[in-house]
Amino acid sequence: MQNTTLDTLTLVVRGGTVVSGQDVIRADIGVAGGRIVALADGLPPAPEEIDATGQIVMPGGVDVHAHIEQVSATGLMTADDWESATSAAALGGTTTVLAFAAQHRGMKLSKVVEDYARRAAAGAVIDYGFHLMIGNPDAPTLDIELPALIEAGHRSVKVFMTYDRLSVSDEHILDILEIARRHGALVCVHAENHGMIAWMSRKLLAAGKTAPKYHAHAHPRLSEVEAVRRVIDLARLAEAAVSIFHVSTREGVAAIRAALGDGAEVHAETCPQYLFLGPEDLDKPGLEGAKWMCSPPPRGPRDRDALWKGLERGDLQILSSDHAPYAHDETGKLKHGPESSFKQIANGVPGIGARLVLAFDALAHDGARGLVQFARITAANPARIYGMAPAKGVITIGADADLVLWDPERRRTLRDADVADRTGYTPYAGRTVRGWPHTVLRRGAVIVRDGALCAAAGSGRMVARSL
Ligand code: URP
Ligand code: ZN
Ligand code: ZN
Repeated sequence: MQNTTLDTLTLVVRGGTVVSGQDVIRADIGVAGGRIVALADGLPPAPEEIDATGQIVMPGGVDVHAHIEQVSATGLMTADDWESATSAAALGGTTTVLAFAAQHRGMKLSKVVEDYARRAAAGAVIDYGFHLMIGNPDAPTLDIELPALIEAGHRSVKVFMTYDRLSVSDEHILDILEIARRHGALVCVHAENHGMIAWMSRKLLAAGKTAPKYHAHAHPRLSEVEAVRRVIDLARLAEAAVSIFHVSTREGVAAIRAALGDGAEVHAETCPQYLFLGPEDLDKPGLEGAKWMCSPPPRGPRDRDALWKGLERGDLQILSSDHAPYAHDETGKLKHGPESSFKQIANGVPGIGARLVLAFDALAHDGARGLVQFARITAANPARIYGMAPAKGVITIGADADLVLWDPERRRTLRDADVADRTGYTPYAGRTVRGWPHTVLRRGAVIVRDGALCAAAGSGRMVARSL
C-alpha cells in the first residue's frame, strides 16, 4: 500500500469484522473517490470515520431480480416506484438492484428502455441496471434493437415461458439465446409450463375452487421441472448460458444439478419466499391469502431443505428477492374486487427490504463459513454472474465502497407497520430476526445512518456491466 494512497483517504470504516471474498478478517477499510483503496489494520485517521467495533461489515447487497415501477404480466403497475423500492432496498442493506425494462406486446424495446431508464435515474437511491424483458419478439426487436441494447451495456435479457400476455415461444427463446450469446448477454427465464398451469386453473375454477390457496394447486411442481429442463435444453441447442429465476422445487434443483454435472452453463437463483414460506400461508380466510401469492408458489418443507442444500453446494448461486409489490387493496391484489378468483389476483410478494435480514438471521450466526456464504449468495455471485464484478459485490481493493454495517445481535420482529416499500405489508410479519443492517454506504456515501435513510432520490447510478 502506498503512503500517497493513505494520505488521500476520505473515510475509514474502523475496527469491524470484514467479510471479504472467501475471508473473514478484522480490518479497517479505507475509502477514497467512492472506492475501497485500503484494507488493513491501523489505517491512519481520515476526515470521516465510522466506528464498526463489534459489527460485521458486509458487501452491499446485490439484488438481481426486482420488479420496480413496472407493468406486470397482467397489466398492473407495481405499488413501488423507483424511489420507494430502492429506499426499502437500502434500508435492508441492498446497494445495487437489477430490475426490468418490460416490453409488452406491440412495444418498441428501445423506447421501453429509454422510459424505464429515465424514471430510474430520477428516483433511484441505490445503483441499478436492467434486464431487457422481451414480450414482443418481432423482427425489429430481435434483429436490430436487442443486439444494439446489449452492446450498449444492458447485459441481461428476461423471457417468460408462461403468462398469456408475456410468454415467448420456444422458437423465439432460441432466437433470444443465440442473440445473447453473440452479443454478450445472459438470458434469464421464468420457467413454468404454461399449458399445465392453464389446464389446472381451468379445472380448479370449474370446480368452484377459486380461493388464493388454489393458486398453489394451479402451479403444479411438474410445471416447474418440465420448463427448467426444457429451457436448459434450449440453451444447449443455442450453445448459450442461461439463468433460471426463482427455483422453488427439489426437482428443479435436481434438474439444474444434473445439467451442471453434464457441463451445461446454467445459473440459478431462489428467493426468500421459497426458503421461508409454505403453501399453508396462502390458506387464510377470504382473500387474505392473496398476500402470499406468487409464481411459482411457495412449496413444502422438503423443497425448502433442497433449496438450502442447493445454495450450499452451488447448484443455486443466488438469493434474489423477486420483489413484486402489490398492495392488498383495490390498487393491487384486490383490483378485481372481493369476489376475485386466484386467477384474477396479481402474482408477487414484496421482499426487497426483507431479503437480507432473513438470510442473515438464517446464515450468519454459524461462524465464518455462514458469513462467507451469506456474502456469496447475496452479493458476490449475483454481481459476478450479471457482469457487475469487480466493482460490485465484494469488499476488495478497487471495488466500489458499497458497505453494510450489521449489528449481529440486534433482534427485530418484522411488522407490516415497519415496511418501507409501498405494499403496506410483509409476508414475514411476526418473524423475529437476529442481526440488523443499521448503516449503509453506497460508493462511500452514507445512505442509511442508524436505520434512517439519508440519500437523495436520483443519487443512484446505472452500473456499467460486461460479460
Ligand atoms: O409472482 C411473481 N413472481 N411475480 C412477479 C413476476 C414474475 O413472475 O417474476
Ligand atoms: Zn418470474
Ligand atoms: Zn420476477
